[in-house]
Amino acid sequence: MLNWDDPLTAPVPRLRATPPDQGPAMPPPAPQADDTPVAEAPVSLAPVNPEDKRVVNGQADINQLAPFKYPWAWDFFLNANKNHWTPLDINMAQDVHDYHHRLTLEERHVYENVLSYLTTSDILAMRNIGLAVMEKMSAPELQIYQARQVYEESLHTWTYQHCIETLGLDQGEIYNRYRVVPEIHRKIQISNRRLDSILRPDIDLRDPDELHNFVMSYLFFAAIFEGCWFYNGFSPIFSLQRRGLMKGTAEQFQYIMRDEVLHCTFGIRVVRQILQEEGVVPDPKTVREMWDETEAAEAGYARYILRDPILGYTAEDHIEQFRFVANRRARQAGLDEPFPGARNALPWLDEQANLRKEKNFFETRVTEYQTGGALSWD
Ligand SMILES: [Fe+2]
Ligand SMILES: [Fe+2]
Repeated sequence: MLNWDDPLTAPVPRLRATPPDQGPAMPPPAPQADDTPVAEAPVSLAPVNPEDKRVVNGQADINQLAPFKYPWAWDFFLNANKNHWTPLDINMAQDVHDYHHRLTLEERHVYENVLSYLTTSDILAMRNIGLAVMEKMSAPELQIYQARQVYEESLHTWTYQHCIETLGLDQGEIYNRYRVVPEIHRKIQISNRRLDSILRPDIDLRDPDELHNFVMSYLFFAAIFEGCWFYNGFSPIFSLQRRGLMKGTAEQFQYIMRDEVLHCTFGIRVVRQILQEEGVVPDPKTVREMWDETEAAEAGYARYILRDPILGYTAEDHIEQFRFVANRRARQAGLDEPFPGARNALPWLDEQANLRKEKNFFETRVTEYQTGGALSWD
């Protein structure tokens, strides 16, 4: 066993000891076939070589942070910690007035359904990263950022709940809407299917098919679920904000969007690292099906939430923007663009994500919130 006075001495085999409270009155147990001296597993004293680290299936000591193999992951963690806020920091008083007195019925329909989708989505995102992804990482610098991500997803859920409570919406109705509206349910169903496929105790990432499925699931959550559906999903609310409506909600969503851009970029980076380390080649047919399925789901969702047009925002804009952003995520992942020629239908959306003080025409405080140095959010 380890010598605590001199931890670097070589371990010595230890005989199984008789418990000290077993007095001499007790006869010694009869020898058993397996009653042989038991040696503890030898303690490896070799220092961790960062080159031994792997994203998955690694054997290096998971409890030792440095030396880093993935210093960029640590940078993500440091950057994420520059975007601190809680929903209580943001004044929602004007939103209460806007919702009850200024929004049209069509705009309320958009607002409520966007919230309804997001409430369920962020819980899914939290469960995915915290329960299914993080445990499969074999380098601590990756897990540490993901632990922060788990917290951020729960913070996002708190944000939606805060909006629902502040506006006095019917919680039961909002939270259950994804279960009864097929167009919202479809997106959740696709995500649940991906999550369920990797949230199994018997999964073995040394199996090439399992590893490919895990990569596809992580790619889906990072590039599409967070990188497209979230990124694009806030835009109907930002369109209200651009008209001076629901500015408190929109400001909250801007904070969330900053987190999500980091989640997306980090996840895609991890996926690329796995592809490189493990020699995985994404199956083109599986990738194509992923884009087509998620585009169809997004189109159905957009046409439902915008079944009646609102000023300055249409379902077709939303769908085209999905395609445009999907192309960007594919390029980030080193894949072919799935929707060549898609146009930037909402050019102001990137400004929302990359908002800087000089672009802050709403004069909200989100741009001044960053606590660290200059960041690139995309
Ligand atoms: Fe989130
Ligand atoms: Fe996220």
